[in-house]
Amino acid sequence: MLILLVGVVSLQVNTAVKKELREQLKIQGLSYAESLAKLAPDYIFTENYYGLYELLSSTRLQNQAIAYIMILDTEGNVIISTFSEGIPEGLLDLNRIKPGQRYSIRTFNSSEGLIEDIAVPILNLRAGYVRVGLTEQTINVFISGINRTIIWLTLAVSFLGLFISYILAYLITSPLNRLRHSIKAVEQGNFNQEVRLFGLKDEVGELAYAFNQMLARLKQANDELMQKEKQRQMLLKKVIFAQEEERKRISRELHDEIGQALTSILISLKYLEGHLPEEQRHLLTDIRNLTAQTIDELKDLALSLRPSVLDNLGLLPAIKNLVRHWENRYGLTINLHLNLPSNFKLRNEAESSLYRVVQEALTNIARHAMASRVRLVFRIKNENLILKIADNGRGFSLNPVSEKSLGLIGMIERISLLGGNLQILSKPGKGTMVKIQLPLKEVIL
Ligand SMILES: Nc1ncnc2c1ncn2[C@@H]1O[C@H](COP(=O)(O)OP(=O)(O)OP(=O)(O)O)[C@@H](O)[C@H]1O
Ligand SMILES: [Mg+2]
Repeated sequence: MLILLVGVVSLQVNTAVKKELREQLKIQGLSYAESLAKLAPDYIFTENYYGLYELLSSTRLQNQAIAYIMILDTEGNVIISTFSEGIPEGLLDLNRIKPGQRYSIRTFNSSEGLIEDIAVPILNLRAGYVRVGLTEQTINVFISGINRTIIWLTLAVSFLGLFISYILAYLITSPLNRLRHSIKAVEQGNFNQEVRLFGLKDEVGELAYAFNQMLARLKQANDELMQKEKQRQMLLKKVIFAQEEERKRISRELHDEIGQALTSILISLKYLEGHLPEEQRHLLTDIRNLTAQTIDELKDLALSLRPSVLDNLGLLPAIKNLVRHWENRYGLTINLHLNLPSNFKLRNEAESSLYRVVQEALTNIARHAMASRVRLVFRIKNENLILKIADNGRGFSLNPVSEKSLGLIGMIERISLLGGNLQILSKPGKGTMVKIQLPLKEVIL
């Protein structure tokens, strides 16, 4: 569009200027020819051809536009000219002057471009006539100068225009951009990114004001939520700790006190059994078997409540025990891979939580999965403890999990309280995998 405009403008200017300059050129040429026609007779009649030649040469040097000058006699023969290498062919016939004519102007094409040839009689043709040839080359040079100026000016104006439009666009879009950045920050959970639009009173300013108000309310709600979440986590930690302590106490009580008492009863029954008559002995045998069975169940209960091996020997022996127990009890094949250093030891609450998570995962497998094989892997990768519990059971679709089911939620909560992350990967028919990632620096002793 701009190029077209520049083209049209320079064409118009070129045509107008060229026409005017051509007229000027003709007037100039005519004035040179007339003054030469006035001066020439003195030289012609005194046959001072050298002087005449000097006159033509000096006149030609006065103006670059003069291509040639000739003085011709009445017959049209050249008396003298500025051509050093002869008159170009056909030039003489191009412009002749008739008696009574004040001047004659012809325009023709030459190797140097358009030439205006002006002929003026000397003493009414009695002493011949003068011909002055003016080239338009100077006009062309001048016109291309104008064209260049137009192009440069247009470019300068266009760049200025572009620059001004850029500044204007920036001024218009910058507040919106700042608003957009703030919205993005809020989207990513940063509520401190207020929009600062000093003194802007237009619609964008109002929008920014409303946004900042909303941000302040959001920030307040978020702070309250964070505070509540902190309290919830602290409470949960305390509940879990208290629960573990309580389980430990009950487990010990069951194992040590009640278990010991039952074992004493068992020994006494065995003793009594030997002293009873044959026909009454079977009654005591039944009681003895029942007592032995109760002791077994009591041990099981104590173990599931809180295995003493966890407190005495640590997580890994406790896991090994648990796995053995689960294999015997549910007929599962559990491949246990403990790729950990032999002195591996975690903080107490981390050991309890990991034990509970494995216990819940194995309980779920026994209760829901209908699996035959389980793979349990502990390893360290990039400063993280990785724990995977995978089964080849029937799997399940993760959503929606019933509100009554608290096992999975409990697992997730325990791991997140330790600063880790728990993922459950499962699909119906494809088995289930519980994957835990725990930064070691959070849990190591
Ligand atoms: N390994 C698994 N294989 C198949 N389904 C599973 C497995 N683990 C969990 N599920 C499914 O996910 C549901 C939720 O498990 P979750 O442990 O939260 O609850 P629950 O075992 O039903 O009850 P509880 O609160 O006593 O643990 C289960 O009811 C079961 O349908
Ligand atoms: Mg469960």
